[in-house]
Order: sequence, then C-alpha cells, then structure tokens
Amino acid sequence: KFAKITLDRDFRISRIDKRIYGSFIEHLGRAVYTGIYQPGHPTADEAGFRKDVLDLVREIGVPIVRYPGGNFVSNFYWEDSVGPVAERPRRLELAWRSTEPNLVGVNEFADWSKKAGSDIMLAVNLGTRGIDAACNLLEYCNHPFGTKYSDLRISHGVKDPHDIKVWCLGNEMDGPWQTGHKTALEYGRLADETAKAMKQIDPSIELVVCGSSNTGMPTYPQWEATVLEQAYDDVDYISLHTYYGNRFHDTANFLAQSDDMDHFIKTVISTCDFVKAKKRSKKDMMLSFDEWNVWFHANEEDDDTMKNRPWSVAPALLEDHYDFEDALLVGLMLITLLKHSDRVRMACLAQLVNVIAPIMTEKDGPAWKQTIYYPYLHASKYGRGVALNTALRASRHDTMDYSGVTDVESAAVWNDEEEELTIFAVNRDLQEEIVLESDVRSFEGYELLEHIVLAHEEMTAVNSAQTQAVLPKSVTGWDGLESGFLSSRLPKASWNVIRLK
Ligand code: AHR
Repeated sequence: KFAKITLDRDFRISRIDKRIYGSFIEHLGRAVYTGIYQPGHPTADEAGFRKDVLDLVREIGVPIVRYPGGNFVSNFYWEDSVGPVAERPRRLELAWRSTEPNLVGVNEFADWSKKAGSDIMLAVNLGTRGIDAACNLLEYCNHPFGTKYSDLRISHGVKDPHDIKVWCLGNEMDGPWQTGHKTALEYGRLADETAKAMKQIDPSIELVVCGSSNTGMPTYPQWEATVLEQAYDDVDYISLHTYYGNRFHDTANFLAQSDDMDHFIKTVISTCDFVKAKKRSKKDMMLSFDEWNVWFHANEEDDDTMKNRPWSVAPALLEDHYDFEDALLVGLMLITLLKHSDRVRMACLAQLVNVIAPIMTEKDGPAWKQTIYYPYLHASKYGRGVALNTALRASRHDTMDYSGVTDVESAAVWNDEEEELTIFAVNRDLQEEIVLESDVRSFEGYELLEHIVLAHEEMTAVNSAQTQAVLPKSVTGWDGLESGFLSSRLPKASWNVIRLK
C-alpha cells in the first residue's frame, strides 16, 4: 500500500474562500433554544446567549452561518420574529412539528453572529411566501433608513443596517417534504424574479439559488439545468446538499462516500457550465455546498418523536451522537471541498449546535465537543490560503458501492501570508498503517512544525459531556524530512494534519 503527493507553490487550485468553513443554525430542535440561547444558564450573557457555546464556535472560527433554515424557512414569517419580544406570536412550525416562540429572531441572531465572529447567510421564504416578503426582509435588514421597513428596524432599536451580504432563495424547493414545494420551472421563475427585485434593493448582495436536495432526487440533475436556465444571469451560486450515513455497518463503504460527494460536485459544475454555454454567458456559476454532514444516527428516534409527540418548543431532534468513523468521513468531506475550492466558494457544515452538530449542550450542564468537531476545527484553523493540487498517487480498493477508492485521501493548503504548509490526510484503510511520501522540494527551508492525529481503535467510540474519548494528539517521531522529501506515518483509519513552516 502506498500514497505519494507532490506539492508545488505553482500547482494552485485556487485561493480558498474562507466561507467554505461555514455552518448552519436552524430553528430546529435544540439548536436555538437551549443551544445558542438559554437565559438562566450559568454561562448566559446579558442577551441570554450561552457563552460556553460562543467560546467553542469562536475556537473553530466559523466565517458564515446560514439561518434560519433549512426546511423551517419555508413557512417562516420574519415579521413575527422582530419587535418587542412580549408581543411576538407563538407559531406552529410545520417543518419540524414544533411550536416556535419567536424569542430569537433576525435581530437577536445578528447580535449572536457578531459575538461569534461570523457573517450571516440569510434564507428567504419561497415556500409559503414570495417576492414581497423577501424584499421587505431585505429592506428591513440592509436599507439604512427612511423607508417603511428600515424605519421599522430602527424603531426596534437597531439603528445600523445588518448589511447581510449572502441570501438564499428558499431551501430545497425540489423536495416534496418542503412546504410550498415547486417544480423546477415554477421555482426557477420565482427565484429569478425574486433575485432581480432583491438586487434592485441592494446590488451588493450575493444570491444562492436552490439546487437539488441530494443526488437521489428523481429530478437531479435536470433540476439544476432548468432552474439555471431561468435564473443564471441573476444569481451567484447554486446550492448542493448531502448527508451520508453508515446504515449497513460497512465502514469501508461509509468512508468511500466522499467520492460520491466529489462526483456530485463535478456533475453540478458540468451542469452549470452547460447552461453557461447555452446562454453564451461569460460568468462562471459558483457552488455553495450549504448543507453537508453525516446524518443518520437519530433518524428512527426522530420519526417517532415527529409522529407521536405533541407540539412543543425545542424538542430534542436530529441529535446524532457522532462516533470516531464519522469524524473520518467529515475529514474526507472537508478534503473534497478543498479539492474543489475553485468552484465551491461557500459551504456549511449542517449544523452547528445540538442538531447534527459538532457542538452539543447539556441543558443543565456544559457545552461539549463531538468527534466531528476536530476535523472541522483543524480545517478551519489551518486550511486558509491557497489550495494546492496534490497530484496524489495511491493504492486503491473497492467497496460495496464504490470502486477504485484511494486508500489515502489528501489535500494541501499553503498559507502564503504565514509561510505555512498544511497537509490534511485520511488513511481510510482499516487494517494497515500507510506511509505518505510528500515531495515538498518547492518549499525549501520549511521544517516540520506539528503532526496532529485523530485515531481510535474503536470506530464506534464517542465523546460526551463527561469524556473526550476521541481527542486529537500531537505526535513526534512519525515524520522524516530530508532533502525536500517528507515521509509521514498515517495509522490505519486516521485523520492527520501535518504542518510545515
Ligand atoms: O439540516 C437539516 C435539514 O436537512 C434541513 O432543514 C433541510 O434543508 C435538509 O433536508
């Protein structure tokens, strides 16, 4: 078994848009209530936001957070979420069969985002509403003053506009589960007309149009083509969503699913470029992979809760308890995003707190880190700069659904400002250690700074509020650097971050 990469300053994929390390907070389950917001918790600040959660979010460095949904947005009445809290209505929330108390809304979330050091990617409701509600919300958020909705914002105590730059035109509109689900043509027309009106209000914004909810949708990828034929000129990104799981307890097959993500991205790029050619357009459509993660552990429990429980505020939903192998796949998915950083300009790990999340909270206790927290942290922290083509050559294996799966996957990022080079590598062989040989002659004078490894004997090992069983460690003596050739030991089934400076 072998793995070889060649890294050169001139083999550039692209300068990485830091927004690929974005995440997502939806009004779903305990993401908001008892997640980011819990007045009365010992760590709550004056606004009711949990400082223990904010600390963990800031530690990762999350450049952008998508809000308020997700499926939630397709029946979201934004006006209910602003103004004096005591006057806000409680609403039936259709997507997750919950009661929405509207204690946190657009202005509170903007406040939280500032504290977290994140920008907002705000979604508008194109399910039960349309152009008017989207325009009014934009006017409320971004117009300085002197109009109905900007003055309404000011009357709510928010003098300065939020100046939100990225807006999603609805959510997963191809899905029959979506409130206000549409055909591609219906949605493409509505998205385009909404885009044009929104850009009249604020030409500086960027817009994300909905692609398919996943590659299994019967309308994929014709959905992308039809929607873009309508909206190509007026939008800036098309969204991609995917979630993977290990339903058949087949780890090798599970870890091969980042190859599916790679194929998905390539197909969407091809579809965008097909429409570009048809339209004789000069513009490249960029990709926003604004929902990605592992999601399957809590499915059965959630089905039961959604059917058999009365309407309630913030029921525990989608609380996947991630294990060690999930962290490996999350690492592999991050590598895949980096490999496509020339076209994938934004991405959101879905989600951030309590709901399919790297950060969990105990209602009467601390916030804690799930296994998947770590690859996300490492990529966001060390994956800034220029993505390099690694020219990977590696031995391969086949799995139940995939063939020619490389035993090792790798991405490399050169932080040209800090003069640092980081290699991210996953050994997805379950039996053997593999030595990664890296030709780094182009980085003369660089020395090994650190090799961080996340490994565990048990694929099913998990973290909890009490223990961090899956924890990265810095290892020494695992790497040798001689005359520009680096060799690094990658233990079986491991996530590795090798840093040079
Ligand atoms: O992230 C959870 C849900 O997954 C989102 O609400 C929806 O967009 C997707 O189906």
